[in-house]
Amino acid sequence: MKGSSSDLPSSLTARDTATIWHPFTQHGLGRPLLPITGAEGAILRDETGREYLDMISSWWVNLHGHGRPELAKAISDQVLRLDHVQFAGATHEPAIQLAERLLEKAVLMGNARVFYSDNGSTAVESALKIAHQHWVNRGTSRRLFATLRGAYHGDTVGAMSVGRSSGFFDAFGGLLFETVTLPVPLIWKGFANEERERAALTEIAALLESEGKSLAGLIVEPLVQGAGGMRFHSAGFLSALCVMFRERGIPVIFDEVMTGFGRTGSFFAYQQTGFVPDLICLSKGITGGILPLAVTIASNDLFDSFLGNDFSRALAHGHSYTANPVACAAALASLDLHESTGSLAQVARINRCMDRHLELLASHPKIEKTRLLGGIAAFDLAGMASGYSAGSGRELAMALQEQGVLLRPVGNVIYLMPPYCITDDQIDRAFEAILSCLG
Ligand SMILES: Cc1ncc(COP(=O)(O)O)c(C=O)c1O
Repeated sequence: MKGSSSDLPSSLTARDTATIWHPFTQHGLGRPLLPITGAEGAILRDETGREYLDMISSWWVNLHGHGRPELAKAISDQVLRLDHVQFAGATHEPAIQLAERLLEKAVLMGNARVFYSDNGSTAVESALKIAHQHWVNRGTSRRLFATLRGAYHGDTVGAMSVGRSSGFFDAFGGLLFETVTLPVPLIWKGFANEERERAALTEIAALLESEGKSLAGLIVEPLVQGAGGMRFHSAGFLSALCVMFRERGIPVIFDEVMTGFGRTGSFFAYQQTGFVPDLICLSKGITGGILPLAVTIASNDLFDSFLGNDFSRALAHGHSYTANPVACAAALASLDLHESTGSLAQVARINRCMDRHLELLASHPKIEKTRLLGGIAAFDLAGMASGYSAGSGRELAMALQEQGVLLRPVGNVIYLMPPYCITDDQIDRAFEAILSCLG
């Protein structure tokens, strides 16, 4: 890492402090901000020229590395060709082409439909509304959603409701709709938890007996619950759970906002489960990490239930920037980059490299529950308080930042989710810094 640490108040920091309200930030604590002025590959650079390894892909969005000229060109070309047009009553090539290519990738979905929105939360809202209204359109009203304990699905009211058990939203309890929270047996390296999986499935079967006819849908983060603390569960458990809902005709939503686009080692996480969901939510990495965009892919059965002769059966949901052509062009260029850079092979390489380091870390007295899937590695700090607000990993993160490694722990959970362009040397450097800071 080049450059030197500076305690001098930065001009960006001072101006920010006077004007800006940041997300998920307690401004009363007066914690320092990183004034970032540039980025390239897996590196972020601050205004003093100091460099940081972006080990969390800038909140999990960046896939191919920062500053990709291929994405920049696609965006600039598209701005000059067609910058924006409303997406009700109009259409355009980038949105159509992106839908075609996404459906090709989500090949098991067959003839499905792509509904556009702007971010992960709205992809989830759209899925919840589709699942709910499909019952209304069929003449029954079902409003109860099943979710997994510890789930996080975004910050809009519907997404908060189904992510209530993450513990992020206590202040909004009165606003949220009712849900049923299902047990989810966690796994980590060397720990399979099969007995608890069987017990959980029995509990869920009983719940389906009593509540099955009220359930509008099931929503899950497949294989990894992200913001809840990089909690892993097995593909076998997930598919057994989903099959039980499918047998009762209850739509299953896979929120792949974090897991999509190769993060877990397959292009979509659902492809590892053998179960094809009725709805898939995608966002974050969809544009390679440079513009906001989201899609909700819905099965044709769901789409067909909205057809009719008047507006009452239509999906009353849309945003000003729905299917923005520039964002769609970025997403198309990102799909090209997946092919030209061999992103799944890159994730496999990252996985091997991080696996070597986790093997070494596993015996460290301050670490427990090491886990790894695709390009996501995580572990818990032993004996430290869990939960987002506990902030027990913060000290480690601050020490790592001093060493030029950027992480954002969730409570006592430390995780690494770098862009796919990261080199093995850079991964080595991050883990060496972790080891030295733990000491
Ligand atoms: C699984 C999952 N769903 C939805 C969201 C919400 O996405 P956004 O922050 O783009 O609204 C997130 C964000 O972290 C997420 O991890």
